[in-house]
This record gives sequence, structure tokens and C-alpha cells, in this order.
Amino acid sequence: MTSELPGPLLVIEDLHVSVGDREILRGVDLTIQEGETHVLLGPNGGGKSTLLNTIVGMPGYRVTGGRILFKGVDLADLEIDERARMGIGIAFQRPPAVRGVRLRQMLEVAARGEVAEDAIARLDEELNLGHMLERDVNMGFSGGEAKRSEMAQLLAQMPDLALFDEPESGVDLDNIAVVGGAMNALLKGEARISERTRAGLIITHTGHILEFVNADVAHVLYSGRLACKGNPLDLIEEISSHGYDACVECKLCQTLS
Ligand SMILES: Nc1ncnc2c1ncn2[C@@H]1O[C@H](COP(=O)(O)OP(=O)(O)O)[C@@H](O)[C@H]1O
Ligand SMILES: [Mg+2]
Repeated sequence: MTSELPGPLLVIEDLHVSVGDREILRGVDLTIQEGETHVLLGPNGGGKSTLLNTIVGMPGYRVTGGRILFKGVDLADLEIDERARMGIGIAFQRPPAVRGVRLRQMLEVAARGEVAEDAIARLDEELNLGHMLERDVNMGFSGGEAKRSEMAQLLAQMPDLALFDEPESGVDLDNIAVVGGAMNALLKGEARISERTRAGLIITHTGHILEFVNADVAHVLYSGRLACKGNPLDLIEEISSHGYDACVECKLCQTLS
């Protein structure tokens, strides 16, 4: 279905977003083509999570200007569940616990259309879910367990656009490898872009996750806009040695963006 898309998978144009009475995003432009994986960098509190939450349609994020097109459709009037059904999925940084719903039940709902039992068995193997399957979603899960549970839900959904909010935060090295491997499998990181069918947008602070996931391009969210664009590993290296302020001053970035 997505291979017949007339245009890019996601187009964000001059997006302005307020939370409460504060404007957080002040004119974000971003285009993601089918098959691409993008990385979002930027200082703490700069609005990275705000951008992802706005794309999925979380309540409280008010679009005051610009627009978001997904598969050519303006998302403005679509609720969060309609966006999910269209193929947008998110792995939250701090996934909420859901009392009374077992992880297995959540996965069955997310895997609609697929034989859920097979799908769940594969996810169990890939993400080592074990006893978590019969427990309430994220109730008392450790950091690594919560991330694996979140990743399992996203993989069961198989979204066309997968958003990841700091997938490595609060996770030990072994779990980063498991989570990163699952992300790369979903995004088909080893294949050429033209052979991939899904797209990704990954927020990362440390860049550790990029040891396991192939990304095509990175952006720096700074002062409410995407100020800079470049090769993910080059940008992360630049930022870790010189900081964000110096990075967005860089003439090369300005000519690229
Ligand atoms: N649901 C919310 N309620 C109140 N303030 C929020 C909410 N979400 C984000 N913000 C505020 O928006 C700003 C950007 O936050 P965030 O998008 O989480 O940044 P980042 O992910 O880049 O660290 C912060 O000042 C944060 O406090
Ligand atoms: Mg955040």
C-alpha cells in the first residue's frame, strides 16, 4: 500500500505548537520519505518530545500554525486512535502502566489483522517477554522490561511511521542491544532505502542506540525549529565535543538546512 504513495510519508510544514500558554515549537519543517530513518537531537526541554507527541495527537499539544500531512492527509482533525490506525506508532520515553490490562491482551489488540498468537510468540522470542505477557502492562516492570514491553507493542502494531522517544534512556547495555535490534528489524536498517517500507524518527541524547540502528539523517531541534541537518554520527560527534550552541552556528549546517 505505502509503495504507491504519491508523495512523502510525512510532511511537516511551519509547525507551531503550544503547551498551555507557552509556544514550544516555532516553525518546524520536516519531510520524511518512505523507507527513511531520521534522528532528532537537541537540548533538554527543547521540544523534541513535544514534536513526537503532536504527531501522534496526544491531548494538550495545541497546533497554532502550520500543518502535518501523513500519507497526504492533513492530521489536524484526526484523533489519536485514527492516526494509529493510519499507521503512526510511538514508543514513549516513559511508558505509562495500565492496570487491569495484561501485556498479552494489549499485543492482541495491537496485532489486529495478524494471527495474534503467532505474532506474540515471535515477539516473545525476539524481546524475551516471558512472564511479562501475563502481567498488567508496565505495572512494576523494571526500566529494561518496560522498554521491551513498549517495543513489543510497537512491533505488534507494525506502523508505517515509527516514532521512538529516547529508546535507550534508563536501559542497561544488554537491553539497549535487544531494543535496538528490534528497532532495526522493524525499520529494515540493513536494506537499501528503496527496499524499506517503513520510516522512523528517533530521539536520542547519547546516540548509543545508533550502534544498533542505521539512521539516514539527523536534525537538531533548537529554539523551536530544526536548526541543523547532517549525518547522524557526525552531528553527534560534533555536539559531544562542541555543544549544541556551536553546532547550530556551524555554517555547513546552515547551508544544508
Ligand atoms: N504535557 C506537558 N505539560 C506541560 N508542559 C509540557 C508538556 N510537554 C512538554 N512540556 C514543556 O514543553 C517544553 C519542551 O519539553 P519536551 O518536548 O519534553 O522537550 P525535550 O523532549 O526536548 O526534552 C518543556 O518546557 C516542557 O516542560
Ligand atoms: Mg523528551
